[in-house]
Amino acid sequence: MATTSIDGRTLHYEDVGEGLPLLLLHGFPFSSESFWPQLEAPPRGFRLLVPDHRGFGKSALAEGVSTMDALAQDALAVLDAAKVKAAVVGGVSMGGYVTLALLRRDPSRVKGLLLVDTQAGADDEAGKARREQVAKDAEARGMAPIVEAMGPKLFAPTTGAGVRGRVEAMMRAQHPKAAAAASRGMGERVDQKDVLSRFGGPTLVVVGEDDAITPVDKAKVMAGLVSGAKLEIVPKAGHLPNLEQPRAFAALLETFRSAFD
Ligand code: MLT
Repeated sequence: MATTSIDGRTLHYEDVGEGLPLLLLHGFPFSSESFWPQLEAPPRGFRLLVPDHRGFGKSALAEGVSTMDALAQDALAVLDAAKVKAAVVGGVSMGGYVTLALLRRDPSRVKGLLLVDTQAGADDEAGKARREQVAKDAEARGMAPIVEAMGPKLFAPTTGAGVRGRVEAMMRAQHPKAAAAASRGMGERVDQKDVLSRFGGPTLVVVGEDDAITPVDKAKVMAGLVSGAKLEIVPKAGHLPNLEQPRAFAALLETFRSAFD
C-alpha cells in the first residue's frame, strides 16, 4: 500500500503490476479491496493504481459531501503521487461516476476508459431523495441498512458464497459517515453524456448480464456515445463482474491492452 496526502488528508492506494498505468476506481460502499483478484494477479501489461476513496478503506474522510468531482480530484492526486501523466482510467459503478468526473475535469490525463457496471446519467428527483435517505439511515444505523438493501441485488444467481461473504464483510467494515457523504455525492452528480461523446480514445464498457443495479441498457447507452467503444456483456455476472468472473474480466482487460500498442 502506498500513500499520498491531499489538503492534509491521507489517501491510500495500491500500486501493483508493470506496464500501462490503469487507474481503477472502486464502487459504493467498498474499498480498493473490491479489486482483490486483480490486485493478486494484475492483468498482463498493466500497472494498476487503485485508491481507497476518501473515508473508505484506509483513506481519511474530508468534511462535507464527497462529490464525484472531489473523488476525481483525489484520484488525480494519486496519479501525481505515482508520477503518471496520463492513464487508462476506469471504475466499477460509483468508480465509473468518478471516472467520468475526472474526464470532465482533465481529459489530458485520460488515455482510455474502462467503464464497468456504471452509467453516464444523473439521478432523477426520486433517485436523489433515495440517496439522502441512504445517507440518513447510515448516519442513524450504520452500514447494516445499506448491506441489507444492496446485498441481494449485487450478484448473479450463480455467484458463490465465498465472494458474497467477502463483499458483505467489506461493506460492513466501511465507515457510515463515508457512506453517507458518498451517497449524497452520487445524488449530486451531473449527467456526463456530453463529456463521454467528446472522448475519442479507446473505450471498453463491461457489464454483467445479470446486473440489477446498472443493467445492460445503461452500458449500451454509454458504449453508443463513444465512437469505436467496445461493449462486453459478461455471462454469469451481476454488478461486480471483476469479482464474479475474474478470469473473464482479466481476459477482457488483456485484449483491451492491445488498443494501446
Ligand atoms: C455502486 O456499486 O457503486 C453503487 O451501486 C452505485 C449506485 O448506487 O449508483
